[in-house]
Amino acid sequence: MEQHTPVLRSEVLAALEVRAGGRYLDATFGRGGHTAAMLERIGKEGRVVAIDRDPEAIRAGRERFATEGRLMLIQSPFSRLREVATSADLLGGFDGVLFDLGVSSPQLDTAERGFSFVHDGPLDMRMDNRIGTTAAEFIARAPEEEIARVIRDYGEERYAKRIAHRIAFARREHTIERTAQLAEIVAAAVPTREPGKHPATRTFQALRIHVNQEFVELDAALDASLVVLAPHGRLCVISFHSLEDALAKRFIEKHSREDPVYAGLPQVPPHARAKLRRIGRTVHPSAEEVAANPRARSAMMRVAERLAA
Ligand SMILES: C[S@@+](CC[C@H](N)C(=O)[O-])C[C@H]1O[C@@H](n2cnc3c(N)ncnc32)[C@H](O)[C@@H]1O
Repeated sequence: MEQHTPVLRSEVLAALEVRAGGRYLDATFGRGGHTAAMLERIGKEGRVVAIDRDPEAIRAGRERFATEGRLMLIQSPFSRLREVATSADLLGGFDGVLFDLGVSSPQLDTAERGFSFVHDGPLDMRMDNRIGTTAAEFIARAPEEEIARVIRDYGEERYAKRIAHRIAFARREHTIERTAQLAEIVAAAVPTREPGKHPATRTFQALRIHVNQEFVELDAALDASLVVLAPHGRLCVISFHSLEDALAKRFIEKHSREDPVYAGLPQVPPHARAKLRRIGRTVHPSAEEVAANPRARSAMMRVAERLAA
């Protein structure tokens, strides 16, 4: 129940070129699978700073790594990456930053967290469950059009309007407060089934992204990665769906070119120069990894190197 199998473990170590004495920032600690892999490689002098916005992840991490002096664990959203690096006295000093996006297995498998349509629980979905608005509150209060927009834009769900309409209809009768209740309403609204996919998959993904402001978070964190990385430091982003991957792709492409405003000019000022170099192509898990850990199946990893200013 409490375990999370890290995806692309050896590929991450290779992409970040994790080495003795290095300094690494694990922006999505989860249950510490990648952090543990880094700690195995960094020798006595290396350091890992790991963050997660989920207080339960940090609590479990403090227990697992209670005697680990090379690790600093911080509860924070990764949009505050710059502040975290500053507090660790490592702004511009990290040799690698890892984002392993989405939710962890303990978050998905613990019914009370409300992420799952398989395990019935309160419709919550907040990664930091001490602050913000739950999915149930959003569903209860938002106008139907807003619900449709979220489900369409963040779930890429073609039946978003129908689903939102059903939700708006159902909430007049009862409060929608359980994940199973919502899954049932969505299943009844979706006329066709995608093979191997629960009809509520896209709606749940959309609500999770909205509740946790995941794209706003990722945008801010990617920007901050440019200032926390040392020259030649590596950025590694693992995403699990196309919208998230598109953000990472666009970010790397944008910063791998100089600012087009200066195109053709003999002098390009430092702030307008390319800041990243893309490393290799998108990495996917092997068939063996997917067989051993089906949750890895949609993982996509992109890697870039921070260029010296
Ligand atoms: C896929 S899991 C990471 C698993 C981890 N690599 C491991 O091996 O155990 C994603 C984690 O990132 C955290 N997370 C997601 N978005 C976040 C954000 N904006 N800020 C901080 N943590 C976030 C989640 O709470 C979750 O614990």
